[in-house]
Amino acid sequence: MQQQINAVWEQLSRELAAASDTAGLEQIRVAYLGKKGQITGLLKGLQKVSVEEKKTLGQLINQLKRRAEESIVQTQERLAAEELERKVLSAEKYDVSLPSAEKKGSYHPITLVQRDLEDIFHSMGFNVEDFSEIVDDFACFESLNIPKHHPARDMQDTYYLENGQLLKTHTSAAQNSIMRKYGAPLRAIFPGRCFRNESIDACHENTFFQMEGMMIDEDISISNLIYFMKTMLSEVFQRDVSVRLRPGFFPFVEPGFELDVNCQICGGSGCPSCKHSGWLELCPCGMIHPNVLRYGGIDTDKYTGFAFGLGLTRLAMMKYGISDIRDFNSGSLKSLSQFSAK
Ligand code: DAH
Repeated sequence: MQQQINAVWEQLSRELAAASDTAGLEQIRVAYLGKKGQITGLLKGLQKVSVEEKKTLGQLINQLKRRAEESIVQTQERLAAEELERKVLSAEKYDVSLPSAEKKGSYHPITLVQRDLEDIFHSMGFNVEDFSEIVDDFACFESLNIPKHHPARDMQDTYYLENGQLLKTHTSAAQNSIMRKYGAPLRAIFPGRCFRNESIDACHENTFFQMEGMMIDEDISISNLIYFMKTMLSEVFQRDVSVRLRPGFFPFVEPGFELDVNCQICGGSGCPSCKHSGWLELCPCGMIHPNVLRYGGIDTDKYTGFAFGLGLTRLAMMKYGISDIRDFNSGSLKSLSQFSAK
């Protein structure tokens, strides 16, 4: 019987070493330790031996049983680790044509607002134009009726390159070349990044986004301007908004206005965000100055037009309730990844 015990152990050891999955291991366990298993059989066989042999053999068989149980547990652990590894490996195999299961990136809040506006204006027949961030003095100032030494330049200090070009201070810098490119009639918007030499705080940045728009045609009046602004803002905020115009001075429009929208936070009743006025300043605009049209090669006897310069950064702050402008350029994914497209 002792030989039989050794043989059972050797056979079990071989089978355990060869076991390749947990289902197979369970079969081995039943074959040895189950009710009709080999080791259980050995224990039952003890009934037939003498009392003396029972003592020594009993010890051996119990020892065998313990070792068998321990080895099965060890094999179980080995197989579980192997199975896990197989799973990880198969997950690592990837197919370039499949979309990633990982969390995808998200759009920057300014991109989201910009795309919204592009869709809205596109549906109203406006072209969407792209324009360089580096421009010359003529584009940024002269063609906009801001000659050298004009005090309006003081508000738009910027960064100059050694060749005399500069980083555009406003999207209006594209007006001239877009007029020259398309002539009249014209409907275009041109979003873009702008730069100013500003001291930075929660409300001021040296790098920010605007979206300029122009509409030039016969008989364009302030009513058209109000209509387009109101429609656009109602779409952006997804509700009917009220707007009001206040006089504002910009050398490239005459008359020029500051367009306010009723405060979207309190609805117009007055709150800290609108400094209790019920209105938020949103979009300077006006009727394009004849000098500017002329610089653009437009016949001022036939055509008039309006222009507006929407602060995209400001609009994104309002839309998403972002109180610190520095968040936009922070590169902090923690705050920027909270925005997603609709
Ligand atoms: N370019 C001006 C700025 O950044 C904003 C502006 C005012 C644009 C009036 C316009 C306009 O088109 O009509 O300060």
